[in-house]
Amino acid sequence: MSLLSRLREDLDAAASHDPAARGPLENIVVYSGLHAIWMHRLTHKMWANPALRFPARALSQFTRFATGIEIHPGATIGRRFFIDHGMGVVIGETAEIGDDVMLYHGVTLGGRSLAKVKRHPTLCNGVVVGAGAKVLGPVTIGANSAVGANAVVVKDAPADSIITGIPATWRHRDAKMTQPAVDPAEYVDPAIYISSAAPASSP
Ligand SMILES: CC(C)(COP(=O)(O)OP(=O)(O)OC[C@H]1O[C@@H](n2cnc3c(N)ncnc32)[C@H](O)[C@@H]1OP(=O)(O)O)[C@@H](O)C(=O)NCCC(=O)NCCS
Repeated sequence: MSLLSRLREDLDAAASHDPAARGPLENIVVYSGLHAIWMHRLTHKMWANPALRFPARALSQFTRFATGIEIHPGATIGRRFFIDHGMGVVIGETAEIGDDVMLYHGVTLGGRSLAKVKRHPTLCNGVVVGAGAKVLGPVTIGANSAVGANAVVVKDAPADSIITGIPATWRHRDAKMTQPAVDPAEYVDPAIYISSAAPASSP
C-alpha cells in the first residue's frame, strides 16, 4: 500500500472517530493528531535506514514542538490511527500499535525499564485509550479493549476488556450484561418500604 493511501486512511479515521470533524479540508488543517501521525509515517520509514536516524529524530522532535505529540520514529503504528486533541501524548520507541487504534490527549505509552529491549506497550487492533491514561511497560492490551481515562495500566488485559483505575483492573466489555448488580434471588421490591399510611395527596 502506498504512503499516500495510508495518509488518506488516517484522514478518514479522523472523520469517523470525532463527531466534531466537519470536512476533509478543515480536518487536514486543524487536527494536530493527523499532523503527528503523518510525520510519523515518514520518520518511521527513515528510521529503517541507520543513516537517516538522526534526521528522523530531529523531525519527530520538530513535530512534537508543533503538535505537543511525541512519537518516537521507531514506534510501529498500524493503519487508520487517530489521536484526538493530541497535546501531551507520548509514544515510546518499542511501542507496537495495531490497526484502528485511537488515543486521546495526555496518553503515555511508556517504559518502566531503562534496558534497551522491548519496553513499551503493545496495543492490539481496535483499542481506544482514554484521556490521560498511562500504559507502562511491555504489556499487551487485547483487541477492541478500552482503557479508561486516567487509568494506569501495568499488566496485560485480554481482548474486549474495559480497563480502569490505578493500578488498572479489567473486566470484560459485556460483564455488566452477564453479571447483574443485584442477584435476582435477593431482589426486594423497594415498594414494600413505602408506608401504606403515607398522607394522601392534598385535594
Ligand atoms: C472506561 C470507559 C471506556 C468505560 O465506558 P463504559 O463501558 O461505557 O462504562 P460506563 O460509563 O457504563 O461505566 C461503567 C463503570 O465504570 C466507571 N468508570 C467509567 N469510566 C471510568 C474511568 N475512566 N475510571 C474509573 N472508573 C470509570 C463508571 O463510574 C461505572 O462505575 P459503576 O459500574 O460502579 O457505576 C469510559 O468511561 C472512558 O473512560 N472512556 C474514555 C473517554 C475519554 O477519554 N474521553 C475524552 C474525550 S475528550
